Amino acid sequence: MGNLILKNARQLVTCAGAAPRRGLDLGTVQVIEDGALIVQGGIIDMVGTTEAIEDKLAHGHWYEDPEEFTTIDASGQVVVPGFVDPHTHACFTGYRHDEVELRLGGRKYLDILAAGGGILSTVQKVRDCEEGALADETYRRLLLMLSLGTTTVEVKSGYGLDMESELKILRAIAKAAEMAREQLTVVPTFMGAHAVPRELKSEPGEYVERLCREMIPRVAESGLARYCDVFCEEEVFGPVQARRILKTAQEHGLGAKIHADEIGECGALDVALELGAASADHLLVTGEAGIRKLADSETCAVLLPGTAFCLRSGRYAAGRRMVDQGCAVALATDCNPGSCFTESMPLVMAMACFGMGLTPAEALNAATINAAHAIGLADQLGSLEEGKAGDLVLLDSPDYRHLVYHFGINQVGMVVKKGEIVYVRD
Ligand code: NIG
Ligand code: FE
Repeated sequence: MGNLILKNARQLVTCAGAAPRRGLDLGTVQVIEDGALIVQGGIIDMVGTTEAIEDKLAHGHWYEDPEEFTTIDASGQVVVPGFVDPHTHACFTGYRHDEVELRLGGRKYLDILAAGGGILSTVQKVRDCEEGALADETYRRLLLMLSLGTTTVEVKSGYGLDMESELKILRAIAKAAEMAREQLTVVPTFMGAHAVPRELKSEPGEYVERLCREMIPRVAESGLARYCDVFCEEEVFGPVQARRILKTAQEHGLGAKIHADEIGECGALDVALELGAASADHLLVTGEAGIRKLADSETCAVLLPGTAFCLRSGRYAAGRRMVDQGCAVALATDCNPGSCFTESMPLVMAMACFGMGLTPAEALNAATINAAHAIGLADQLGSLEEGKAGDLVLLDSPDYRHLVYHFGINQVGMVVKKGEIVYVRD
């Protein structure tokens, strides 16, 4: 919980405003030239121009001991809110680079899964991994995210697919979150409904029973997850099963999220809307009717263009259309060892612009304030506003639009979490 005075930013981009941002509002980020801010006890106290902040410092009665404040001179740099990544599968071990070649050779993602590979091959490796090692590996991945500007991240379980393994993963996420407590905020999600485990392949209904009767109640009781997510596709968990799983989760106090319309439109989005899910994620093949319904709802559209890119889906989600229709659009990496192995929110923002037609301002709001909304934290973080966490990124760039324009390189020079400097580029 640091005390910080930051001054002289070439641009300070606040992303301030009510969440979620929709329509034209999504395109407004508020750029303060020669920007500055004060963080006290981890919370932002004031945001403005350097002149206004200096004036406040000269007269503020509360500013009695300058020794207690770290001062950052952000001359020549751009300051933006810490990125929020609201959809990852970052707790895993083992890689699946062989699948890249299979998919490039024409094999379909779901065919690899049906043959016992894909998610199920990671499940084997994660089941075989000791909890502490899994936590350490997850923590290292979180630090990589931090070096790319992410200060808040959602992490799903889902590579265990039985009670003990799923609890082990959720404990590993909690341990990694504890190791990273000064660097990142972690929101855990239970995703036991990620695939049907190999041992119940011929009895998928039995697995849904176990999820609803045993796993969800136990996970909820453990307090290790805030949300529950389901991979809803006809070939994985159909909409009837997804509805039952998410309803059970809600009855046990977990929020609902759903992988919807990633490969086919099977009714997953209707389940999300009916249950008032916090978010429907992917929406790669969602058509016009779905977009309209989504725009009329409170459910956040979490788009994952890295997955469309990596799976060579032949299209991105209709992000431009969703924004224009008024959907609450957020962006995430989907970081996982199969369909999208990247930790980089700036790369995802570039894909959102060049692949889906969002503007850099829209992509930045979608990766900060709206992403925070998608995981229920927009009242605490996601924008640089008085009363919110002092989570910020200093970019070695002349303009915030370089985040998108100059893609594929890391522009992050420094990251601040709750007013403490937690990452400095070597
Ligand atoms: O969001 N679709 C399901 N889950 C992940 C992929 C997980 C994996 O392939 O390991 C996704 O694409
Ligand atoms: Fe995912």
